[in-house]
Order: sequence, then structure tokens, then C-alpha cells
Amino acid sequence: MVVEGVSKSFGDFRALNNVSLEIKKGEFFSLLGPSGCGKTTLLRIIAGFEHPDFGAVTFDGSDVLPLPPNQRQANTVFQNYALFPHLTVFENVAFSMRIKRVSKSEIEAKVNEYLHLVQLEGHAHKKPNQLSGGQKQRVAIARALINEPRVLLLDEPLSALDAKLRQHMLIELDQIHDKIGITFIYVTHDQQEALSVSDRLAVMNQGDVLQIGTPHEIYESPATDFAARFIGETNLFDATVVKAEKMNQPSLPNMDTGVAEYMVELEIPELGRIQVTTVDEVQPGQTVSFTIRPEKIVITKDRPATKRADINLFQGTVDEPIYSGFQTKFYVKVVNKTLIRVIKQHANYSDEGPDILWKDSVYLSWSANDGYIVEVRR
Ligand SMILES: Nc1ncnc2c1ncn2[C@@H]1O[C@H](COP(=O)(O)OP(=O)(O)OP(=O)(O)O)[C@@H](O)[C@H]1O
Ligand SMILES: [Mg+2]
Repeated sequence: MVVEGVSKSFGDFRALNNVSLEIKKGEFFSLLGPSGCGKTTLLRIIAGFEHPDFGAVTFDGSDVLPLPPNQRQANTVFQNYALFPHLTVFENVAFSMRIKRVSKSEIEAKVNEYLHLVQLEGHAHKKPNQLSGGQKQRVAIARALINEPRVLLLDEPLSALDAKLRQHMLIELDQIHDKIGITFIYVTHDQQEALSVSDRLAVMNQGDVLQIGTPHEIYESPATDFAARFIGETNLFDATVVKAEKMNQPSLPNMDTGVAEYMVELEIPELGRIQVTTVDEVQPGQTVSFTIRPEKIVITKDRPATKRADINLFQGTVDEPIYSGFQTKFYVKVVNKTLIRVIKQHANYSDEGPDILWKDSVYLSWSANDGYIVEVRR
């Protein structure tokens, strides 16, 4: 499925700005972005409920823009389920087949097959108001899939569910996707959801697609400050390049980000000098943004023994520890009162555990390979 140069305005408000995407057959693809960034608008254009001002949408190479929604073989699962309240689960799922005048026995077999797929066999006779939120959502999924669409469009389908059930349904959705193998386009503003199920995702903001990639690519090499901040938690600083040297021994190739060939020294006003490796060359004097993920920073009470030049080391004071069982998040105040977020996993019996406390004096360290230059400004 290809979306090419799609723009859409409502009055003088630009909801989508020259959006292009190529979604592979059978892919679980997510559109991720904050509220109002244009996700639903893009989904509605793909489904045929909305027409773009400019651009093209093709399925398997053929233009679908002239086709009405019911001829596009793209079915949508909405956030609010949109079930028929007076019909049973069975009849809700059977609805589109009844219209097509398919034989009774065929309908029965098909409906049962899809109720089985979404694990609702025992609920066929119930009305929607006798179902839980998760069950309603499964009916909506079965109802969309029974048409055997080429693409299943899911617009924040789990947002009405509580956190535990959302996790559970997400896994089920992933399993359904594996079983039937059609393309899923999944809209969400929840970065954890998007990272955990997608083959690839597009990060959107204010009508623009900022980056397309695998969850790993987007987490490890965000293309913009917005993506770095929006996906996961991070420490982000403006910096100036002081020195950039080609390394004799480039660091190990990373599947997504390539081989880091340059060792760069940055001046960060709030921190001082740090070392970071990069794939692309940068020039002294350039301003960049630098990020280091909280889980990549090692926090210790004792000064680390290593004195390697490529290890960045800071001394600081714990400003706020936030313990949550499997991990602790620390805000650590370092030079110039700059706060750095650090996440320490409590891994196993040899782990020191939550022994680092409020106001403790600590050392933070991370390797030059773990930092990342996000944007080069000039
Ligand atoms: N029919 C419409 N008329 C006017 N403005 C609209 C219309 N539909 C959407 N918009 C505007 O376009 C922008 C994008 O809306 P859209 O529904 O695509 O956002 P979204 O990314 O799905 O957000 P959310 O996560 O809140 O669902 C919003 O600012 C919205 O107000
Ligand atoms: Mg929306």
C-alpha cells in the first residue's frame, strides 16, 4: 500500500502535509503521534471516508481514490467499537455477509470461524451491552476481518480499555495478525504500544511524517528532537561540536544505525565536555542536539575504576529516586544543577538493589557509543 504526497486541509488548517508512506504487504505498521497530528485523518483517507486535496493512495499498484470505502477492501476498527446494540454478537459479525446474500450455512461457518479467532465462541448469543470492553473490541475485530480485507485499519482500538487489558489485547492482536497475515495499519498515540507490536512505524507530528523505521531504529536513532522526546524517555541537550576525528577502530556495526566511525567531542553548556561516536561526519563549530537514554547511564556510589577516554563520567547528587519494583528512576543533579534522568533495572540477586537514596552522592557514567547525535543544525 502506497500513500504518496497526500495533503489535506480543513478550511485553512493543514491536517496533513505532503505525507508519503510505503506499507508492505502483511506488515504490522503503526502511525504514532500526539493527539491532533493527523493520524485519524490519514486512516480515513486510506479507508475512503475522506478525500485528500493532493496525492495518491494505491493498493497493490492500483489507484483506490476513486473507489468508495466498501470497494477498497480495507476495513476499519474504531475506538468506540460501533457495534449494533440490538444485534447479538453473532449477528454483528454476520452483518456484512447477510447483505451480500451468502447462504445460511456459509455464514454460520464463517462467523464461527472468526468468533473462534477472537476467542468469543461462547458469547455468540449475547448482546453488546452484556460484554466487557475487551470482548466488544473483539467483536469489532471479527466483524472487520470476516470481509477478508486486504488491509485492516485500527484507530486507537484499545484506548477505551484499562492498562492490563490493553496489554493483553495487544498480544492477541499481534497473534491474530500472525495467523491471518494481512496488512494491519494501527493508529496510536501510545509509544509503548507502537514499539511493542509494530514491524515498522511512522512518527507523526502536526501533519508531518517525521520518521519511518523499525521500533529499534526509531528508539535508538531518532531523526528529530521530537522523536527522541516522544518515544521513550530521554536526556536531550543542545551542544556544539568541538572536535571530530575518524577512529582507527570503528565501533561494532549496528544493524540499524551502521558503523560509528567518528569520535566527537561536544561542548554542552549545562554539562561541559562529553564524547560521543557518530556514523555521519560532523564539523567543529556545528550545533547539534545530543541524547542519552536514561537506561544507558550507569549509576554507582563508588567511582568507576575504568579511566577510558570514551567513558563519560559525572559526579552528582540524587535529587529524586522513584522506585517502581523492577527499576528505580533517578533524577540526578550534576554540574550547574543540571538534572539527568537515570534508570536502573533491579536485575538479580547480585544486584545492589535500591540502595541508592535521596541526597546520596553518586557517579554517572556512559560510553561514547551509547550517546547519540540527533539533529545537526548547521
Ligand atoms: N472534519 C474536520 N473538520 C475540521 N477539522 C478537522 C476535521 N477532522 C480533523 N480535523 C482537525 O485535523 C487535525 C487532525 O485530526 P485527526 O483526527 O486526524 O488527529 P489524530 O492524530 O487522530 O488525533 P487523536 O489522537 O486525538 O485522535 C486536528 O487538529 C483536527 O481538529
Ligand atoms: Mg484520532
